[in-house]
Amino acid sequence: MQNTKILVFGRIGQVGWELRHKLACLGQVTAIEYPEVDFSNSDSIRTAVRAAEPAVILNAAAYTAVDKAESDPDLAMAINGIAPGVIAEEAKRLGSLLVHYSTDYVFDGTKPSPYVETDLPNPVNVYGKTKLAGDQAIQSVGGDYLILRTSWVYGARGSNFLLTMLRLAQERPELRIVDDQIGAPTSSECIAQATANILAQLLSPSGGRLNGRCGIYNLTSTGETSWYGFAKALLTKSSGTYGFTVPNLISIKTSEFPRPAKRPANSRLSCQRLEQTFGVTLPPWEDALSLVLETLAEASLPATLKA
Ligand SMILES: NC(=O)c1ccc[n+]([C@@H]2O[C@H](COP(=O)([O-])OP(=O)(O)OC[C@H]3O[C@@H](n4cnc5c(N)ncnc54)[C@H](OP(=O)(O)O)[C@@H]3O)[C@@H](O)[C@H]2O)c1
Repeated sequence: MQNTKILVFGRIGQVGWELRHKLACLGQVTAIEYPEVDFSNSDSIRTAVRAAEPAVILNAAAYTAVDKAESDPDLAMAINGIAPGVIAEEAKRLGSLLVHYSTDYVFDGTKPSPYVETDLPNPVNVYGKTKLAGDQAIQSVGGDYLILRTSWVYGARGSNFLLTMLRLAQERPELRIVDDQIGAPTSSECIAQATANILAQLLSPSGGRLNGRCGIYNLTSTGETSWYGFAKALLTKSSGTYGFTVPNLISIKTSEFPRPAKRPANSRLSCQRLEQTFGVTLPPWEDALSLVLETLAEASLPATLKA
């Protein structure tokens, strides 16, 4: 297993960064980033895969600026919709396993209960449409693939809701947060750890590769909350560490916070299929949040203050 060549796209992204660390025990990890590889250029992708000759490819690169995608649909489609199909073709040619990340935003959010993998996608924004096109491109190439759909990704680094809230809380006495979109905040670390657990099974001598388990799996933390609930929990848990007073939090409706891209009201994904197939369950979102806040606090404290 240690000689397994693993290629990660999106080295400095939230998920890609964590993958590099969590996969190190599973094989030789090569992680690359734009502009070493440019997802808007198919030749660049093919060259990168052919140079690495990996047994496993993980694609954590994506155009993730949801609002910006509304006015930049061609680039978003090239990166999210077309590039995954090119990677899938190269993976199939090499006989490699492809692990790709997708999103709750492929759904319109009108279902009253958590979405399962077989529910019909109906994205309501450009980002969701391009991500769905990527999922479909991989499926139509065939080969060995896992598409892991996750939601509300955050972590101790990168650009995300948690870090934005921590900054705003120290700048403003009052924050207005949307309370009518429901989902599961999922840490990049948990996504990477769960992926490593799945790969450890597949790469073990008795793992039998995918063996009929190819397909789409939802992969999110357990439990659910709104953006308001997430903000309240993360600010309450961290105000002592950073010495700020929790701002006055005002719960608002999506309609009171207009943005270029529409968002689904229900982002909940059922992860039963993942649990039944690979025995993998992510922790409750509150527990994962505490771990990320611990990592962040440890990283921000000056060395002299650490015990
Ligand atoms: N973030 C979320 O809330 C969320 C929710 C559900 C699903 N997902 C999915 O989860 C996966 C990982 O998301 P993430 O939050 O880790 O994303 P992220 O932090 O935005 O990282 C995306 C990575 O893609 C790279 N990239 C952008 N344009 C590229 C190009 N033209 N060529 C090559 N690489 C390029 C970025 O490089 P630069 O930094 O240099 O631009 C970055 O390293 C994605 O598939 C995303 O769609 C994310």
